[in-house]
Amino acid sequence: MCGIVGYVGENKVYPFLIQGLKRLEYRGYDSAGLAISNGSLLVHKCKGRVADLERHVLSKETEGTVGIAHTRWATHGEPNDRNAHPHLSMNRHFALVHNGIIENYAELKIDLAKNGYLFQSETDTEVLVNLIEFFYQQSDEINAEIAVRLALSKVVGAFGIAVICREEKDQLIVARRGSPLVIGIGQGEYFVASDATPLIGYTDNVIYLNDNDVAVITKNNLTLKTLDDKPASFKISRVDRSIGEIEKGEFAHFMLKEIFEQPKTIEDTFRGRISHDHTAIVLGGLLDIFPKLIKAKRIILIGCGTSWHAALVGEYLIETYARVPVEVEYASEFRYRNPILSADDVVIAISQSGETSDTLVALRMAKERGATILGICNVVGSSIARETDAGVYTHAGIEIGVASTKAFTAQVTVITLFALKLAFAKGEITEAHYHEIIQELTEIPEKIRTILAGHLRIEEIAAKYKDASNALYLGRGALFPVALEGALKLKEISYLHAEGYAAGEMKHGPIALVDDNLPVVVVAPKDHYYEKIVSNIQEVKARKGNIIAVATEGDTVLKEMVNDVFEIPESHTAVAPLLAIIPLQLFSYYIAVMRGCDVDQPRNLAKSVTVE
Ligand code: AGP
Ligand code: GLU
Repeated sequence: MCGIVGYVGENKVYPFLIQGLKRLEYRGYDSAGLAISNGSLLVHKCKGRVADLERHVLSKETEGTVGIAHTRWATHGEPNDRNAHPHLSMNRHFALVHNGIIENYAELKIDLAKNGYLFQSETDTEVLVNLIEFFYQQSDEINAEIAVRLALSKVVGAFGIAVICREEKDQLIVARRGSPLVIGIGQGEYFVASDATPLIGYTDNVIYLNDNDVAVITKNNLTLKTLDDKPASFKISRVDRSIGEIEKGEFAHFMLKEIFEQPKTIEDTFRGRISHDHTAIVLGGLLDIFPKLIKAKRIILIGCGTSWHAALVGEYLIETYARVPVEVEYASEFRYRNPILSADDVVIAISQSGETSDTLVALRMAKERGATILGICNVVGSSIARETDAGVYTHAGIEIGVASTKAFTAQVTVITLFALKLAFAKGEITEAHYHEIIQELTEIPEKIRTILAGHLRIEEIAAKYKDASNALYLGRGALFPVALEGALKLKEISYLHAEGYAAGEMKHGPIALVDDNLPVVVVAPKDHYYEKIVSNIQEVKARKGNIIAVATEGDTVLKEMVNDVFEIPESHTAVAPLLAIIPLQLFSYYIAVMRGCDVDQPRNLAKSVTVE
């Protein structure tokens, strides 16, 4: 939620701040602002996108070489000019940007008000900046760094902050607890950002802050300590990313680019993990821990949104092939429901960003209760990746579209590799079967290329349904989560109400929705559920629903039976989710475009949800 950037060095700060915000805009985009320290604190901010901020700043002063900026996803107070960050303290000593939630802001605010503080905004953030100033003004001995420490020691909640002080104009202070922050190391300059994307092209050397770290940064010096003023350990990591990854290129939207990237990203997920002769799976990140995994009595998969759907696919695959009981939990439920966990349990968090607050906190709780914790993350160096005992990166590359596409197929690929490897290691599948599914997996990228080549047909079908107001998505087995994911994609980017259901469940309720206005998307390839799902199709047809089937190429029976068909190549059941989701991603994309929606930055959403 929200993107933060900061800079201290010799160059003009404004261009980096604006470009950095643009690269982070996927994290939040209801308002934006920046503050520059040049003897006084210049603050420019407004409701809207980064482009609106750019227009707003056009004729304003932006001179200075130290600054901070923010693109917001509101938690406290509606998106408007006043609530936009940075927030200035009442006496203008400090400007601050914040990602997260100050949970005890109301009581802090009352205390500050008693001390004469007045507030301009409804945010929790403005309370924090005033609390810093309050401590700063208590004595001459208290400098900006000490004031930040004192204020943060009073705070309950999550924060990633960047602060500048009028009197200490050459320095930037950053701190985190719960919300991500990374520092880029340049030559005589430092960069700060919520993730490494704004740093691409500026530096490859970064430090990921840990929780409770506070960094005081000037152009030539970086001091990193813990909140209680002890030296903090850190390591310099390398970020190996190219500019091309964060540009749309020939595509109209990042989402479309990312959908089309999937043959390549899935190949990247395989790379080094499937042997050249397609007979073995190597998951380097799990090597040391694998003996423990083989003995696990239970595997619990946690995640949110699309990552939770990938976990549901994982449940089918791991139980079917490795014969280990699996539970799938929404991280936001799991963390609060006092789950029973023991050292025999393995908890695997699935997360594109590796920063989702609910997932991260749930994982920490599982760790405290003795479970082995693993991560399947896309963002290298993210909090979940760093805090887990071991894990597997999905290697899908940077995903910018808020609606997750390539990260989902990469997650499903990793979970499929994991299920197969575990199954084989436990002797639950024969060598021949193991080899057969690995082979099928390696053929997926080519099969996705075939589906993508038919995108114009999918666009034509989308045009027929773009004015619908509801849609139902049905699937069975591991394709039930694909139905859920298809429905989520449609909801997220076209604001059309869509529900995903297990096809067999339809008769227990949702069938009441079916009439001649309702599009019903049925994922019905030729697998062992085929006859059952064809019966479900008949049930919809009898009630005049409009059926769009995801069907195996050459299935003439279904073609006759339904209104429209998205064809997918024939495949093994274990890998079918990777194919079936592709037409559904494109379908929702085209509908959203036709409805005039902002595909990459849908309303009310943010890419990385670092608040509860
Ligand atoms: C997907 O399209 C979503 N925008 C959202 O549901 C997302 O999958 C969820 O917030 C989890 O994010 P994560 O994978 O980064 O943890
Ligand atoms: N809680 C703060 C606000 O509502 C920060 C939200 C964010 O992370 O963008 O302004």
